[in-house]
Amino acid sequence: MPKHISRILAILAAGLAIALVAKWYFTTGSFYEFGHYRGDSVAEIAAKQPVLQTSGYCKSCHSERHLQWSAANHKSVQCEVCHGAGEGHPQKGKLPIPSDTRKLCSLCHERMPGRPAAQPQIVLAEHGAEQQCIVCHNPHAPKITGVVAKVSGDAAAGAKKHAAACAACHGANAISANDAWPNLAGQHAAYLVRILGAFKSGAQTDVMMSSVAKDLSDPEIQNLAAYYAGLTCNAAAAEKAAGDAAAGKLLAKNCAACHGEAGAAPNPAWPNLAGQKGVYLANALKAFRAGLRKDPMMAGVARGLSDADIVNLAAYYAAQSCGKKP
Ligand code: HEC
Ligand code: HEC
Ligand code: HEC
Ligand code: HEC
Ligand code: HEC
Ligand code: HEC
Repeated sequence: MPKHISRILAILAAGLAIALVAKWYFTTGSFYEFGHYRGDSVAEIAAKQPVLQTSGYCKSCHSERHLQWSAANHKSVQCEVCHGAGEGHPQKGKLPIPSDTRKLCSLCHERMPGRPAAQPQIVLAEHGAEQQCIVCHNPHAPKITGVVAKVSGDAAAGAKKHAAACAACHGANAISANDAWPNLAGQHAAYLVRILGAFKSGAQTDVMMSSVAKDLSDPEIQNLAAYYAGLTCNAAAAEKAAGDAAAGKLLAKNCAACHGEAGAAPNPAWPNLAGQKGVYLANALKAFRAGLRKDPMMAGVARGLSDADIVNLAAYYAAQSCGKKP
């Protein structure tokens, strides 16, 4: 055999021997016991703190968010999917609040071929006018519900009831005299039924309205709603509220999906704002912001408004001509 061949063979044999020794030396006896290499580490891995805490962990401290979330349709999306792993929180600091929701939400909601139909999908370019998703959707209760209550009331009977029980505060023609009390003329009947029902059940409270609504029967509510919805509300448009209506108009773009460009709500389940009393609008927005008035859609929207925003928005809507169709 030529010398150079035997040298190469000797080197290969030496390499093989070293590899075998190395394998014998480095591979633990438990190799393959629980999967590759894991054998001796199992105890160590098991002793690690879980990184995800599940949403039950968040409940004790963030009970309000948890309540809203668990009552709504995002309860299949765990808190930590959006806020990151909860381990070490709150001791080690706050969890992040997702800043780019268009990016986050489209991970699950962008329309894609093959994505199961059970997962609600949108065409990103045609939906939401390039705005952040949380402008319109509350991430903890995102569904926009426009369930329309049926109204089959008798407006004439409603008119009588109004004159007897409501006109003192809401005005003879349901245009109220006081800037802090809402006009009812021209409001959507389905919204009126819902909101009067909420006052009646105690879901919404007000020192003045709660006691009045408590005594209304369901047919009376239907009659009143039918009466108000049929009234003309144009008399209210002249009012000039404090605040900068032009600045309000810019902000009102964020409200247009539900309240219409100029305050005429496209869905009868949602209130018209056009021509409404300015102080009342501002009070309502503050109540939503403070969580005193509860509505999952408005809660998300109102949270980010400053006092100045609120006054400007109120000025804008109060100045709009009521009675326009959306
Ligand atoms: C032991 C109580 C406690 C638990 C449990 C807890 N948090 Fe918190 N969380 C806090 C406190 C305290 C803060 C700080 C509030 C502050 O400084 O405004 C906070 C802040 C946050 C913030 C940031 C709020 C902000 O204004 O920046 C988020 C988001 C958050 N928590 C999410 C969660 C999630 C999700 C869970 C469950 C995995 C959770 N938290 C569990 C107490 C808790
Ligand atoms: C689909 C994503 C998503 C899920 C699921 C989610 N959050 Fe959030 N959360 C957000 C976004 C976006 C914000 C910021 C916007 C806002 O405040 O509404 C936020 C804000 C918060 C804040 C801080 C609000 C503030 O006042 O600054 C807390 C606290 C919080 N979430 C807790 C929770 C808890 C607890 C859960 C589970 C029960 C949860 N979140 C589930 C997306 C989510
Ligand atoms: C991890 C995936 C995931 C993420 C992230 C997520 N969602 Fe969802 N979302 C779902 C699923 C699943 C449902 C359906 C829940 C059901 O109805 O059972 C849903 C339901 C919804 C609905 C209700 C649709 C309808 O009409 O029934 C809206 C609106 C929504 N999400 C908006 C958002 C927004 C806004 C964000 C970002 C803040 C977001 N989602 C982030 C998975 C996700
Ligand atoms: C300008 C307000 C607005 C913005 C911003 C917005 N949405 Fe919506 N979204 C709506 C309205 C109103 C509806 C309900 C009516 C409808 O089906 O179009 C809705 C419905 C949905 C639905 C349910 C669709 C279905 O077929 O059931 C999903 C999912 C959704 N939005 C996700 C998102 C995501 C993700 C973003 C951010 C990229 C976003 N939305 C931004 C107003 C908005
Ligand atoms: C003592 C004065 C008073 C009387 C009487 C009264 N209201 Fe009211 N009403 C108010 C005030 C104040 C509010 C605003 C409450 C708030 O800020 O949430 C209101 C709010 C409402 C709203 C909600 C409007 C909206 O846009 O959300 C409706 C609907 C309503 N009243 C109907 C009635 C009816 C129907 C009657 C008669 C059965 C009646 N009110 C009697 C003072 C009164
Ligand atoms: C996702 C839909 C949605 C968006 C976006 C939205 N709203 Fe609303 N808004 C509602 C619903 C639903 C109600 C009725 C709540 C209730 O029944 O208590 C409401 C009620 C109100 C009320 C009380 C009206 C009354 O007559 O009592 C005011 C004021 C209001 N919204 C202002 C705004 C402003 C300002 C914006 C934008 C910054 C906005 N909303 C954005 C759905 C929305």
